[in-house]
Amino acid sequence: REFIITIDGPAGSGKTTVAKALAKKLNLDLLESGAFYRYLTLRLLQSDIMDSQFSSDEIFRKKIEEFLSEIEIKISPEGTVLIYQGRPINNELRSKEVEEKVSEISSHPVVREEVNKFMRRLIEGKRVITEGRDMGSCVFPQADLKFFLTADLEERARRRAKDVIDRGLEEVKKNLLERDKRDSEREIAPLKVPESAIVIDTTNLNFDQVVERLEMFIKR
Ligand code: CDP
Repeated sequence: REFIITIDGPAGSGKTTVAKALAKKLNLDLLESGAFYRYLTLRLLQSDIMDSQFSSDEIFRKKIEEFLSEIEIKISPEGTVLIYQGRPINNELRSKEVEEKVSEISSHPVVREEVNKFMRRLIEGKRVITEGRDMGSCVFPQADLKFFLTADLEERARRRAKDVIDRGLEEVKKNLLERDKRDSEREIAPLKVPESAIVIDTTNLNFDQVVERLEMFIKR
């Protein structure tokens, strides 16, 4: 049977690093759902359907399916690696251009449906930890354990600014704010605390403390 732990929360809440640490400790495959939205954003930015305002839904869906069929995915306790044309593209997915557009793209129902289908198939029969915005609320409501991580905007921006090289603190903060707003206000699969999720505010906790706290709940 499958075993699923979900971690949702806003950008910079520590989901990814914490999920990575737990995946290694517990030997679970790590599914980073944001990578799929980032990948589709990147491909759409490079294509001309972006200009035609997504054209018709059918043509758009075909395009999304095509994009998803062109990547090879490796999930392991080390993380989710997207391989496109024979090479890993994870770094490109974190560019400024992608971050500015990804919330808009991921609010499209066709995009969400296709990504969800893809992810559900990907983890069939596996033991996974998965992180994103709607893993516990929409995609894997049957999960064995659900977490929701939060932190103050200031703290989240500080954490994220350390990881990016193409932007300063203020720009990072502005992008986080905009994405949070879009991600939580969108109609479909908004960012929210899933039912029965354990909420952890990480503002005043260091990395080890957060991991410890989640482990405590997992071992119970
Ligand atoms: O690491 P960070 O939280 O900044 O980004 P991410 O998890 O890679 O997600 C990037 C964007 O993808 C988010 O701002 C959402 O707009 C979208 N996303 C989503 O809509 N649903 C998910 N399950 C994961 C990401």
